[in-house]
Amino acid sequence: MSDVTNYWQTIAAHAKAENRPFFSLAPMEAVTNAIFRRVVAKAAAPDVFFTEFTNAISVTHPKAKFTVQGRLYVAPEEAHMPVVQLWGNQPEAFEAAAADVKTRGYEAIDLNMGCPDSTVIKNHGGSDLIRNPEDAAAVIAAAKTAGLPVSVKTRLGYSRLDEWPDWLRFLLEQDIPLLTVHLRTKKEMSRVGAHYELIDDIVKLRDEVAPHTLLQLNGDIDNYQDGCALAAAHPGVDGIMIGRGIFTSPFAFEHTPQEHSVKELLGLLNYQLDLYDDFAERFDTQRFASLKRFFKIYVRNQPHAAELRNAMMETHSTDEVRQLLADSPLTK
Ligand SMILES: Cc1cc2nc3c(=O)[nH]c(=O)nc-3n(C[C@H](O)[C@H](O)[C@H](O)COP(=O)(O)O)c2cc1C
Repeated sequence: MSDVTNYWQTIAAHAKAENRPFFSLAPMEAVTNAIFRRVVAKAAAPDVFFTEFTNAISVTHPKAKFTVQGRLYVAPEEAHMPVVQLWGNQPEAFEAAAADVKTRGYEAIDLNMGCPDSTVIKNHGGSDLIRNPEDAAAVIAAAKTAGLPVSVKTRLGYSRLDEWPDWLRFLLEQDIPLLTVHLRTKKEMSRVGAHYELIDDIVKLRDEVAPHTLLQLNGDIDNYQDGCALAAAHPGVDGIMIGRGIFTSPFAFEHTPQEHSVKELLGLLNYQLDLYDDFAERFDTQRFASLKRFFKIYVRNQPHAAELRNAMMETHSTDEVRQLLADSPLTK
């Protein structure tokens, strides 16, 4: 087995030995950076982390270097290199980006072919590739030139659900070690439930076209238990990817659900604040406001939670947040 196949097969085999699918934290822009990945690792780590997506052109673009350094940064304390996710549609850019990320120590590349954002689509990346399969194939081939395993994360179609058999077949024909399917079309955004009714047919297609390609499902799966149940109900599913579930609980990947005290939750928040300060000092690329979307993860459902959260939303620095936490009855 080549190294390229081996990377994902090893992850899948490890999980299979425990009679479960492998679990990934989904790539999420401005969320799954070097800071938050460490928070999730401290709470309960999945098998695989993905970076937020990075424009392939910007990876080697001299003017974009500063922002990209932060985006592609992996802290030495991270136990495993995350999988780096790239977006775009220019093969030359992917060839250069793939070589660059390899020198940074990344061991696997994932290609974004599902993002519905209008700017990304205007630049012919993300889900626009679903409408341009030749570009998708060219980008996959270009990314492979660095010799790292290249996987794809996509949706079921661009505007119609019945696009999925042709589109997924096309991707499966590209000889990729892993295909992650967000079970919705681009047009559906996140407005409808994930199409679990198609899972068995997708497994069948994978078995027919590319039995060596691992299949990972994504969409509306909240936590480890739900992921295990879904995989058990659909034999042939290899991996489960969780995105927004991490906002419901930072312990989403915990194998045995436990009660977590307010102190523990706020401890994680304090950890994130410390990592944020360290990161901001080094890269100066993070805006404090970007931290605010995380507060609801830690401060919820407790008495006085809404009051504290509202006050936190008015803060302007990590020190102000720390002060509020120190003064809150929740920490007494
Ligand atoms: C804030 C946010 C940022 C996202 N950024 C990315 C991204 O950079 N790359 C990507 O492939 N998907 C991105 N997604 C989509 C998620 O990876 C995932 O496919 C989607 O949220 C559905 O999974 P879920 O129901 O488990 O959240 C993003 C989603 C959210 C909510």
